Amino acid sequence: MTNKNLIDLEAMTVDQIEKIVRKARKIMQSPDDFRHACDGKILATLFYEPSTRTQMSFQTAMLKLGGRTIGFDNPMNSSVAKGESLKDTVTIISSYADIIAMRHPVEGTAMAASLYSKVPLINCGDGGHLHPTQTLTDIVTLSCEKGRLDHLKIGVCGDLLNGRTVHSLIKTLAKYEGNSFVLISTPELCVPLYIIDILEKNGCPYEISHSLSDAVADLDVLYMTRIQRERFKSEEEYEAQKYVFVLDREKLDRAPEDMIILHPLPRVNEITVDIDDDPRALYFKQAQYGMFGRMALILLLLQDEDFVIAERETQISEHCCKNPKCVTQSEAYLPRLSYQKLGMQMCGFCDKRID
Ligand code: NCD
Repeated sequence: MTNKNLIDLEAMTVDQIEKIVRKARKIMQSPDDFRHACDGKILATLFYEPSTRTQMSFQTAMLKLGGRTIGFDNPMNSSVAKGESLKDTVTIISSYADIIAMRHPVEGTAMAASLYSKVPLINCGDGGHLHPTQTLTDIVTLSCEKGRLDHLKIGVCGDLLNGRTVHSLIKTLAKYEGNSFVLISTPELCVPLYIIDILEKNGCPYEISHSLSDAVADLDVLYMTRIQRERFKSEEEYEAQKYVFVLDREKLDRAPEDMIILHPLPRVNEITVDIDDDPRALYFKQAQYGMFGRMALILLLLQDEDFVIAERETQISEHCCKNPKCVTQSEAYLPRLSYQKLGMQMCGFCDKRID
């Protein structure tokens, strides 16, 4: 089955990802050619969780294409505050808008919402799970700044357990030949096992490191991330993890001259500000690339009939998902979707094992 929703970049082929990158580059070169490409179209941004870049870059993307936007960034100002279900909200909004961009603190929500949306729905982050359009941002940046998406040694550093940007990035770059990863985190915040499985399944080499100083000496890309305070069970656990990895001038002096530094932002002390003017610091430019990537995505989803995304084959499971952070816990009417992976049954919403 195929669809027009972007829930997980994994569902896209390498050709489709490259089509987005090519389109983004075309828009960057001649933005005037696209000023009326979405005249009369409406984007709804449903943000149940804080955002600066993702929300505003989607809104700006639609405005620059000639379209308009509706939406909320504080669900407490919408009927969600009265207890409206996700299903009802999405059913209604998808009869107003032509395309929906949604962020939610609960894992699997975008997938759940897509079951009830009549228009393309884009996952802008679902809890600690995935963030595919940040990965598009990262990929457009790599393509423009490194000239390739393959044969890269990428260090990812910080909260690799809860950082959804890292999960989406690894899943996507693991598809490209010759890429390898250095996973730099404390033992408590290393990537979830399902991400390690993906690396292994793709034959993608990876090392685990607990030292940013050592790792930085031999990388093409350093991807820094924030410790995700809001995803910790207690303030004490967060306090123990914050500021463990800080990229400062001393560490950067050990890095190759052509290494680039990316960060999805916001930064909370993990990169010192004196580095911002270093030519390798590309995190602000990266946010700008993101807007072009999102313009390209909107155009392809709305206008290119051939741009359809493969849908994972799921079945109804007799098991309930036990992940307390999964959307199936809060939206009880959802079908118990599951799929098979390596002989295991996985939840069709949050990708955690359910059997
Ligand atoms: C990221 C997110 O929301 O996951 N930010 C973003 O979208 N640019 C990273 C973060 O919040 O740390």
